[in-house]
Amino acid sequence: SLAQQALPRSRQECPPVAFALDIDGVLLRGPDVLPAAKRALNILEGDNPFKKKIPYILLTNGGGVAEDERCKKLSAQLNRTIVPSQYCQAHTILRKLSHDYRDKPVLVLGGEFDKVRQVAKGYGYRKAYTTLDVLAWNPAVWPFHKLSEIEKTTTEDVDFSNTPISAIFVYHDPRNWALDVQVACDVILSGGIIGGPYKKSDRQTEPVKLIFCNPDLLWKSDFDRPRLGQGAFKSAFQAIFKQITGSEYPHVQFGKPTEETYHFAEELLQAQINDLYSVKNSLRPRIYMIGDNPESDIAGANAAKWSSVLVKTGVYDPLQGPPSHLPTHYAEDVEEAVKWAIVQEM
Ligand code: G3P
Ligand code: MG
Repeated sequence: SLAQQALPRSRQECPPVAFALDIDGVLLRGPDVLPAAKRALNILEGDNPFKKKIPYILLTNGGGVAEDERCKKLSAQLNRTIVPSQYCQAHTILRKLSHDYRDKPVLVLGGEFDKVRQVAKGYGYRKAYTTLDVLAWNPAVWPFHKLSEIEKTTTEDVDFSNTPISAIFVYHDPRNWALDVQVACDVILSGGIIGGPYKKSDRQTEPVKLIFCNPDLLWKSDFDRPRLGQGAFKSAFQAIFKQITGSEYPHVQFGKPTEETYHFAEELLQAQINDLYSVKNSLRPRIYMIGDNPESDIAGANAAKWSSVLVKTGVYDPLQGPPSHLPTHYAEDVEEAVKWAIVQEM
């Protein structure tokens, strides 16, 4: 079959090879494309000894916009067509949970204005609200932020005094941590009704669910040093919640390095392999994860039994000593990483 033709002759009986590429610190630094990125994609798209396209996905803890919108932007930046079926961002996995919350009011945190509301609605969450909606409903909820004129245009008219929030989803990095921590505390402490009486958690009917989509404490943007990520927001929220209640609040975590996210990513790769080779390849693919963050990319790949390559263009800095999770291999950049992986498959 084509699947076997895509493999070097000596490995005809072996499973197909596939790649998962991290974005921030591997392909991009903030708005800038890393020089090695386009060369690495050229190799995967066919400029390789197999003379065939090698399946790959982009696997990021980033997000904040719809997958198709991000793919259009990535395609322009990388000068390669990236389609949503080969793209997994922090909150893509939430699409699978939408049936549980279809008509339940949920709070969605992070990103610009109400972009993540639009993403949530695209996933099937029909009653998705933002912390700016809460401020528009009652400015006294957080006296230290006045909605700007543009923010006002992005809010929905909701009476939160009778809109029980069933879950809080942190889609992307919150822009106003203070407002978002305050509203998240209000929702949880009052059993979903912002401003309602505080409930004793043991007498709460159904506790508010709290779901984070990206545990990154740090990530590499275009500043010289790594930046605080959604994991830092989670730490801030939990520290404040613990000060108030004596304990952190139970939560669900998605994103790299969680097993759920790597399993979800492997399903995407398997679907791509089956499409690409138009056969159902029953053999589990040999997957190479190329990342810059030992805590997310390397830890997750190692746990998923993928091969992992740690590059030096992002969070990981060799001068700071050994990484917290040891990769299969180290590489200067994504091009060198792809070339090394292909040599392993010859
Ligand atoms: O917000 C994005 C950041 O946390 C990391 O992104 O692409 O390195 O997983 P990435
Ligand atoms: Mg990264």
